[in-house]
Amino acid sequence: MNALFIATGNSHKTQEIAGMLGADFVVSDLSSRPELPEVEETGTTFSENARLKAVEISKQIQGFILSDDSGLEVDALGGEPGVYSARYAGQGKGTAENNAKLMREMKGKENRSARFQCVMVLAEAGEVLAEYAGCVEGSIISEQRGSEGFGYDPLFIPDGYDLTFAELGDDVKNQLSHRARALAPMISFLREKLS
Ligand code: IMP
Repeated sequence: MNALFIATGNSHKTQEIAGMLGADFVVSDLSSRPELPEVEETGTTFSENARLKAVEISKQIQGFILSDDSGLEVDALGGEPGVYSARYAGQGKGTAENNAKLMREMKGKENRSARFQCVMVLAEAGEVLAEYAGCVEGSIISEQRGSEGFGYDPLFIPDGYDLTFAELGDDVKNQLSHRARALAPMISFLREKLS
């Protein structure tokens, strides 16, 4: 069994990553370490924020630390919400408000194209060991559909499908998502490192 700590308090991210890693990894995240101070995401890119989280946590916890910084880029909104996806409707606001704002901003917009981006960083003892990015293209619909997944999933249809990520569910999402595409090369790197 290999231990991997995910530098996130987002249980949905952890669940998706754990599901894709498979049974030979034991995964834990920040929910088991509430005493650790939250790492401020002061970067302006997914890469900067992923590095901040992995490096900072790896100074405080031994072993391999994996971070995920991700978000939604909408073309008609000039790439927003981007790195600010988690706080699109304002600090302290949640998914319901973020999705309501996205639906409002997209009202009447003809161009619905968008993509989820994810950057994953692996760090140990304050040093970055690896960084991989993943992306999935799709479009934004006008009303939320589906109850699985998290965040903007009920508003995002990946290219080639007619259903949202929230309707498709984790089995399908984990095969084509931005997170899956960043994690695949990371898993190869990790297995090599651990062998
Ligand atoms: P982070 O914690 O700063 O990486 O913020 C990620 C935010 O981007 C989440 O809170 C969601 O709003 C959005 N996001 C990232 N990945 C996904 C996904 O797989 N589905 C839906 N929303 C996502």
